[in-house]
Amino acid sequence: MNKKLENLGFEKDRTIETILLTKKQGQINLAPIGIRRKEQDFLEAKIYKTTQAYSVLNEGDIVSLNLTNDAELFFKSIFDKKIETEDFKIKKSDYIIKSRCKRIIEKENYIITHLIPKEVIKNKETKKGYCRANSAIIEALVYYTKLDYEKRDKVERKITQAKKVVKKTGGEKEKELIKKIISRI
Ligand SMILES: Cc1cc2nc3c(=O)[nH]c(=O)nc-3n(C[C@H](O)[C@H](O)[C@H](O)COP(=O)(O)O)c2cc1C
Repeated sequence: MNKKLENLGFEKDRTIETILLTKKQGQINLAPIGIRRKEQDFLEAKIYKTTQAYSVLNEGDIVSLNLTNDAELFFKSIFDKKIETEDFKIKKSDYIIKSRCKRIIEKENYIITHLIPKEVIKNKETKKGYCRANSAIIEALVYYTKLDYEKRDKVERKITQAKKVVKKTGGEKEKELIKKIISRI
């Protein structure tokens, strides 16, 4: 398991942006969540209490961490949630790490959960090259979701920077996504 996680970029102290899939009473929730490799045998997530993910997660639950670089999947998991899933995974994700939520530490505004990886599943091969516009969209989404507690000026500044990168390096898809993000600020 250790090697498998390292091969996916989960080296000690690194954070990988995933889409967390949780299921409660048959209802699936998807949310982008940064997952950090803390120790050999567990991953860690910090989940704000403002999220739906927080309200559905319980100790002992099985969750799936969906790995993808696709900015559109991150976008949809925040906004319309129209993402196809099957067998506890996002159809379009590259890898899935099924994990068990072992421990929840309660803080005032967030929880820390320890996730024990149980199974790594390869879903889809990605052979796409690196495009800065894709990362710029994900960065813009991170700031968009901080609107409730970051200064609005800062969020707008960061999203404007992302827009410049998208203008320079993005295709139609990324240009459309950044337009939609800006229209929602
Ligand atoms: C790349 C990325 C990483 C994020 N990481 C976290 C995180 O680690 N913890 C968290 O609480 N929110 C994080 N967010 C914000 C949540 O994904 C966002 O609040 C989302 O709307 C929650 O969805 P939900 O309310 O359906 O659970 C992140 C957003 C992005 C775009």
